[in-house]
Amino acid sequence: MLELKNLYFTIADHEKSGGIRNIIDGINYAFDDGKFYAITGPNGSGKTSLAKLIMGINPVTKGSIVYDGTEISALTITERARAGIAYSFQQPARFKGITFRDLLTIATGIEDEKKLLAILRRVGICPLSFMDKEVDAKLSGGEIKKIELATTIAANPKLAIYDEPDTGIDLWTIGPMVNLLKKELAENKTTTIVVSHNRSFLEAADVVMIINSGRIVYDGNLEGAMPLLEDLSVCTYRNTCEGEQDAGCYR
Ligand SMILES: Nc1ncnc2c1ncn2[C@@H]1O[C@H](COP(=O)(O)OP(=O)(O)OP(=O)(O)O)[C@@H](O)[C@H]1O
Ligand SMILES: [Mg+2]
Repeated sequence: MLELKNLYFTIADHEKSGGIRNIIDGINYAFDDGKFYAITGPNGSGKTSLAKLIMGINPVTKGSIVYDGTEISALTITERARAGIAYSFQQPARFKGITFRDLLTIATGIEDEKKLLAILRRVGICPLSFMDKEVDAKLSGGEIKKIELATTIAANPKLAIYDEPDTGIDLWTIGPMVNLLKKELAENKTTTIVVSHNRSFLEAADVVMIINSGRIVYDGNLEGAMPLLEDLSVCTYRNTCEGEQDAGCYR
């Protein structure tokens, strides 16, 4: 189980009074094992920042992260990966000279061709032709996201965090991608956290969580989330427009 206790991620911001901004603003939450969580909320609300705190990519300013009974806030990314946490970036890195096959081998330690092909079959969303593709700037946006997700699954994490796995993904893959994550949860008990704006992921989730201004403002089913999501989009728009006399600003 993953527990966030009074968690803060704070940056210097000279425009704010006090000179700081809490991007994650005192989050308390306990994630249950073996559930599918979808985190959503407006752009810039802190979803990626929270995901990066859990993986150790962002440093914790204050508070703690407890995973399987152990305080992990001070652990490195590698140590958290060894503990069974995996993270799939919103904007994956590209590496010149490294192929998808190399990435799978790094993620799993497997070099045997048959076993690598078995992983590809299990993941399903990456065709065989991807295997020797270089994970460099020439890959399309959707291709790199598929490879990122496949590599995360191949690591057999106990807790998998996917940051907007659907970005740039074609319509034909989104359904299979949702099914794939549900299957990994059902068969391998992978606790799954997906950051997404996509209704397919929100519908698939056991728990929909809404983050706004660095705080969890809702957790529950999608039906209960909908009025708040609609309201938040209007509020964001109004805030943007507040005080502006711009003729292009509609309410
Ligand atoms: N390391 C950082 N330094 C300064 N500002 C940051 C840092 N990380 C995030 N931010 C700011 O914090 C806010 C939240 O960013 P974050 O990436 O978490 O948003 P998000 O909810 O994932 O948004 P999106 O839906 O657009 O992906 C943004 O305003 C961002 O510019
Ligand atoms: Mg984000």
